[in-house]
Amino acid sequence: MPRSISKPVVRWCVLGDIPEMLKIETKSFEYPWSTKDFEIFLRKKDHIGLVLEYNDKLVGYMIYQCLHKGFRLISLAVSPRYRKKGFAKTLVQYLTKRVANQTDLIIEAQISDTKLEIHNFMKSLNFKATKVIKNYFGPDQDAYNFVFNEKNSDSNTSTTKSIVKCRNR
Ligand SMILES: CC(C)(COP(=O)(O)OP(=O)(O)OC[C@H]1O[C@@H](n2cnc3c(N)ncnc32)[C@H](O)[C@@H]1OP(=O)(O)O)[C@@H](O)C(=O)NCCC(=O)NCCS
Repeated sequence: MPRSISKPVVRWCVLGDIPEMLKIETKSFEYPWSTKDFEIFLRKKDHIGLVLEYNDKLVGYMIYQCLHKGFRLISLAVSPRYRKKGFAKTLVQYLTKRVANQTDLIIEAQISDTKLEIHNFMKSLNFKATKVIKNYFGPDQDAYNFVFNEKNSDSNTSTTKSIVKCRNR
């Protein structure tokens, strides 16, 4: 009998997923979040975590914040050995599908100006860089504001300065 082809499954994350998320986190960021950091973000009422499973293994996650104008991407990572297979795209598309035909909603992400590969990743998902936010991540650490559905964004509205940022390191 032929083996069935696995499809990635996206589901809401639960606190029990944190140990697997931490394994990916430590391989993905220079200054990884701790268990406590994940717990703090996932307990916030306006923050939501999604995980992606492939062959019953947790291989990626995304944390986002709900805003009145749409969503803000907070963190996104895929296990190194599962990268470049479209898994991050699948996670982000969970959100882009929700705002695609809306006239008033956007998705935004603030990405360090030094992370050119992430800029390319965002562009491949039809996000557009709308402005540079000076000192967003600290002194002399600027961010690019990437927006999906940028036609809906009000360029006069300044980006809310959040304690949480789409990670710079
Ligand atoms: C960024 C990251 C999440 C991408 O995950 P991924 O599963 O490999 O991405 P995908 O396979 O879904 O790629 C989607 C698209 O982006 C492109 N892309 C992915 N990684 C890229 C890179 N490093 N440079 C340029 N383009 C890239 C792909 O080519 C693909 O384009 P296509 O659909 O036209 O072929 C992953 O590299 C990662 O976990 N990095 C470390 C953590 C991080 O920096 N997170 C982002 C900031 S929060």
